Amino acid sequence: MWYNGLSPRTAKETSGGTKLSDYISLYEAIGGAPAVRDLVEKFYPKVQADPLLSPLFPDDIHPVMEKQYLFLTQFFGGPSLYSDEFGHPMMRARHLPFPVTRSRAEAWLSCMARALSETAIPEPLHAVVLERLSGPAHHFINTED
Ligand code: HEM
Repeated sequence: MWYNGLSPRTAKETSGGTKLSDYISLYEAIGGAPAVRDLVEKFYPKVQADPLLSPLFPDDIHPVMEKQYLFLTQFFGGPSLYSDEFGHPMMRARHLPFPVTRSRAEAWLSCMARALSETAIPEPLHAVVLERLSGPAHHFINTED
């Protein structure tokens, strides 16, 4: 069962009563900082190779990768790295300057699915990560195809 992005460690550990310490974040479950870093590094080459997505991004993708690393860290329940540096994420607003269509949202999620499959993130968590990102990706749609 998922609650606030947190997952039970094991049934055994929670059997004596559920305490906050019995839960880990999705961030911890996928492998913390190295896993988020690896995911971002696998993801952006796919974005740059995608005909729908690549025109939206700058040639120098490294600043975008760094921001995505900070953002996904906190989005998955790790330290609030993005907000510490850039304030409230307001991610839909930050995407408004770019034409985000349904096809682009699907392309973005497809890049993420393929990136996940190239990481050491445990396979059962791939669907969880994609599910967490699917809401925002569709929420960021701001124009028709
Ligand atoms: C739905 C399809 C999406 C498209 C087409 C898209 C496209 C973009 C573009 C063009 C940028 C700006 C790059 C630049 O700085 O020039 C950007 C920034 C960013 N995107 Fe997306 N994005 C999508 C979905 C998402 C999702 C689902 C997330 C995370 C939940 C996300 C997180 C970010 C972050 C953290 C930034 C950097 C924001 C900043 O400037 O501080 N994006 N995106």
